[in-house]
Amino acid sequence: MSYIGRLDSYSLLDEVRNPLKANIVLLPGDGIGPEITKQAALVLEKIAKKFGHDFEFSSHLIGGIAIDTTGDPLPQETIDACIAADAILLGAVGGPKWDDPSAKTRPEAGLLKIRKELGLFANLRPIRLFDELVDASPLKREIIEGTDILFLRELTGGIYFGESGRSGEGDQESAFQSMVYSVPEVERIVRLAAIAARGRKNRLTSVDKANVLEPSRLWRQVAARVMAEEFPDVQYDVVLVDSMAMHLINRPKDFDVVVTSNMFGDILTDEASMLPGSLGMLPSASLGSDGPGLYEPIHGSAPDIAGKNIANPLATILAVAMLLRHSLNLDTEAESVESAVSQVLKDGLRTADIARGSQAIGTSEMGAAVIERLNR
Ligand code: IPM
Ligand code: MG
Repeated sequence: MSYIGRLDSYSLLDEVRNPLKANIVLLPGDGIGPEITKQAALVLEKIAKKFGHDFEFSSHLIGGIAIDTTGDPLPQETIDACIAADAILLGAVGGPKWDDPSAKTRPEAGLLKIRKELGLFANLRPIRLFDELVDASPLKREIIEGTDILFLRELTGGIYFGESGRSGEGDQESAFQSMVYSVPEVERIVRLAAIAARGRKNRLTSVDKANVLEPSRLWRQVAARVMAEEFPDVQYDVVLVDSMAMHLINRPKDFDVVVTSNMFGDILTDEASMLPGSLGMLPSASLGSDGPGLYEPIHGSAPDIAGKNIANPLATILAVAMLLRHSLNLDTEAESVESAVSQVLKDGLRTADIARGSQAIGTSEMGAAVIERLNR
């Protein structure tokens, strides 16, 4: 299992390295993507300066803007730059402009392709509560206080990448998309999740729909075997996805690490993002067995607020912390970003999404406030 590397921070690097030089690719994308990526890149620049690293940045096209410029949501030039990078920071892709269901291609296809091209099979989505924001959650304090969940969403398989097609015409037209999982695909994500659990509260929940779906039955069998053979010390249980949707808002504190398939993970993490109060606070990391990791906020491109300097850059800034930790092995630097974010919240600074009626500051002001806390 050498590909899993450092276990304590679920980093996939085989050995600890402390690069003073790193090549970071920025993929701003669409909607609010460019605004939030800019703030996050400024934070990275600040970290480089403060800790004596040399980060080199280059910006490349993905998503709708790439379609408009080149006709392709993921130009080869972008893929090449990503392959050569130490880490990738992505804003968001998509928007109404490219939403026509009969269009030849879509911005989202670029995102799916980069995940596949780079073999980013593991999507880590930590759901962590900031004390200061507990009252921004639509759920009661007593339900959510103490919630700390790490989702591991399988990212390069399942229905997202299954064979699809249409046949017939008019009233008779039909469409299909198949869901496929293989044994090795399930093994590697379950292993990674179990290792992550060992570094946390030692509990793993696997979510499936084995009462209906064949790939879920395979998933459940493989997961049970991996857990019994390799992780007998980790507390393990299985929950059906529909129950999980309910448990997440009823007893979120009961979960530690949750592992699930691509589509269930997509849906459950949007639901879980409401526990901390705003989608605008949640980062994610997509990792493969080798090569660069890709870091992004879990929210989308929010075209309705794009270009207005009101989006919350904190999810992307927290994604920078994950990038520092998982791709560059810079734990101290990662922690300093996270504590700067905590500090701005403690100081009462809020963007509109988390302001709950109180005074809100803009995207660039929030970025500047984080950088200012990094100076202290
Ligand atoms: C996510 C997003 C993407 C997904 C979209 C934009 C393709 O919702 O990262 O959760 O469905 O994976
Ligand atoms: Mg999603």
